[in-house]
Amino acid sequence: MSRFVVVHSFTRRVGTSAVAANLALLLARSGLRVALVDTHRQRDTIGPSLGVAPRARAFVDACTDPAPAGLLDDLSELFRLPAGRFSALPGGHATHLLDGDPSLSADEIVGLLRSVTLVSGADYVVVDAEAGLHLETMALFAVADVLAEVIEPEPAGHQGSAVTLDVADRLGVPRRWIVVNRAAATPVPDVDRVVLESAFRVPLLGALPEAPEWDRTDAGPFVLEHPAHPWSAALCTLASTLLDDEMVARGALGE
Ligand SMILES: Nc1ncnc2c1ncn2[C@@H]1O[C@H](COP(=O)(O)OP(=O)(O)OP(=O)(O)O)[C@@H](O)[C@H]1O
Ligand SMILES: [Mg+2]
Repeated sequence: MSRFVVVHSFTRRVGTSAVAANLALLLARSGLRVALVDTHRQRDTIGPSLGVAPRARAFVDACTDPAPAGLLDDLSELFRLPAGRFSALPGGHATHLLDGDPSLSADEIVGLLRSVTLVSGADYVVVDAEAGLHLETMALFAVADVLAEVIEPEPAGHQGSAVTLDVADRLGVPRRWIVVNRAAATPVPDVDRVVLESAFRVPLLGALPEAPEWDRTDAGPFVLEHPAHPWSAALCTLASTLLDDEMVARGALGE
């Protein structure tokens, strides 16, 4: 059974898709089998984040038709990985764009995610969640093993993120973290870490620096385009922290 890592933010444009796509790719490059699912209803964000547009059915369509054939696009070869290592399901679908956000039932979303695990055999399904707190978010939390709640350093959206983490707790998401993106300095000084962790009552998984290079990235994944950049190094550290914790979460230490 796959582990579900949901990457979410309360406010928009915080860098959730950037984190989700690059984290999924890093996990695949570390030897794990990974499926990346973009749950944005209005558009695909994997294309912009990774520089490749998956050819599978888009999320909204896949929710109503989760048939295994063509459910995921295997992107492994594009990233010089063994077949089946890294697959993706794009977000959105054009036919619904004019009707506002299409409403999906929790059963459809959970059903799709179950199909993704069966089709991919993934160790990890990384879910790129839409910003905000909707029925769709709750459906993702119903299956999530890990929630990485992405926040910006400025406190504007922090209250919404705190509420999101509380909802995730009540819905039984076992591992809950905050991730700071666009931080002025990384690693976050200890004093700031303590303030953040006590405000959100969950641990800090990692902090990623402000990176002006993001504006110039359109060719491919940031971690491959800028492997020596502090943002990429910080994401590697974050991925290691996550995997270390997974050893505990999966009972490898006999807990
Ligand atoms: N650390 C960073 N430094 C500078 N720019 C960044 C950083 N991370 C992401 N960005 C930029 O911020 C913008 C938003 O990123 P992204 O699409 O990943 O955010 P999002 O939270 O998924 O947004 P949305 O709410 O629209 O889904 C992009 O233009 C991206 O290039
Ligand atoms: Mg996004």
